[in-house]
Amino acid sequence: MTAAQDLGLPLFILGRESDTHSERGVDCPGSLPPASDPALVERARAAKAALGDRLFVLGHHYQRDEVIQFADVTGDSFKLAREAAARPTADYVVFCGVHFMAESADILTADHQQVVLPDLAAGCSMADMATFDQVEEAWEELEDAGIADDVIPITYMNSSADIKAFVGRRGGAVCTSSNARRALEWAFSQGSKVLFLPDQHLGRNTAVLSMGLSLDDCVVYNPHRPGGGLTRDRLRDATMILWRGHCSVHGRFSRQCVDDVRQRIPGVNVLVHPECRHEVVVAADHVGSTEYIIKKIEEAEPGSAWAVGTELNLVQRLANAHPDKTITFLDRTVCYCSTMNRIDLPHLVWSLESLARGEVVNRIQVDADTAHWAKVALDRMLALP
Ligand code: 13P
Ligand code: SF4
Repeated sequence: MTAAQDLGLPLFILGRESDTHSERGVDCPGSLPPASDPALVERARAAKAALGDRLFVLGHHYQRDEVIQFADVTGDSFKLAREAAARPTADYVVFCGVHFMAESADILTADHQQVVLPDLAAGCSMADMATFDQVEEAWEELEDAGIADDVIPITYMNSSADIKAFVGRRGGAVCTSSNARRALEWAFSQGSKVLFLPDQHLGRNTAVLSMGLSLDDCVVYNPHRPGGGLTRDRLRDATMILWRGHCSVHGRFSRQCVDDVRQRIPGVNVLVHPECRHEVVVAADHVGSTEYIIKKIEEAEPGSAWAVGTELNLVQRLANAHPDKTITFLDRTVCYCSTMNRIDLPHLVWSLESLARGEVVNRIQVDADTAHWAKVALDRMLALP
């Protein structure tokens, strides 16, 4: 009987026969076609070579293997924003990531540089949870409550350019998962309250676990309820006003997942992204951005075991790159980011070949006024100590 059958599983849904709890995938016997069509790989290589230094390809850690192999730089949102700003020589920046990242790259690059997102449908459900009109309405609520002057707005990188511009106009800053604590420290040196957009979990986790605030200091503003679903008194008493947004990928991890994996793998280290729910982060051993997660696994002792709570492309890549460590996906069911995955090899090849012909497709261009104010908020982030 196989290990999977032992567990009552009809298939090796989550791992190899020898390692059924891991997210490494099932090894297929026999001769099978390669994961990426070799003809497309060759076309991507040729188009990249033809473009030479005129092209700069950025790849977020959640991208597919078939795409990430063509990135000149890989990174978390913060590193990619800095890299985009640091390459003034490239005419074209192809962003293998999602829409808000490409917008930030457009804002941070020079006017002559053109940013391309290979599939325009690569959005982000979390960023979509805060629209400009909703945020303006919320700010009016803060004004009516008489607290707007005390509030510094901070928006997570995972927000649209017009939300970043809103924040820039009102004295606030952008943050990413790798500098959220520093951004909050800065914000509390400027005002006594923070409006944190749009990820309630990153805001709560940072406020409570890094800044020493209590859960009672935080309220959740629901843009779909009148007054955010909060009384004026509750708004006035709060230190952290968290927007009711979340990541649908990281929202799947539960406290139960952590308890289960600890039972299954004694001594396992639980490593999660701060977009996970508070009870998951509290139960984990380590929390940090995608860049942090990679570093932590790289530095880990051979033979150590890790359960990682973040997007599956990255976890699988880590598992493949570190066969000397046991690397498991924190949830038992698959959890890709569907929008990150929209950037596939055909879209990449299409955008690169179009650029090589001199045709710019899927350009992401933020209007000048929005870009100006969003850059103010991004620059405040880039200047954080
Ligand atoms: P980081 O890469 O900044 O950790 O963010 C993760 C994410 O969700 C990007 O969409
Ligand atoms: Fe958005 Fe979550 Fe996907 Fe990141 S992982 S792009 S936050 S949906």
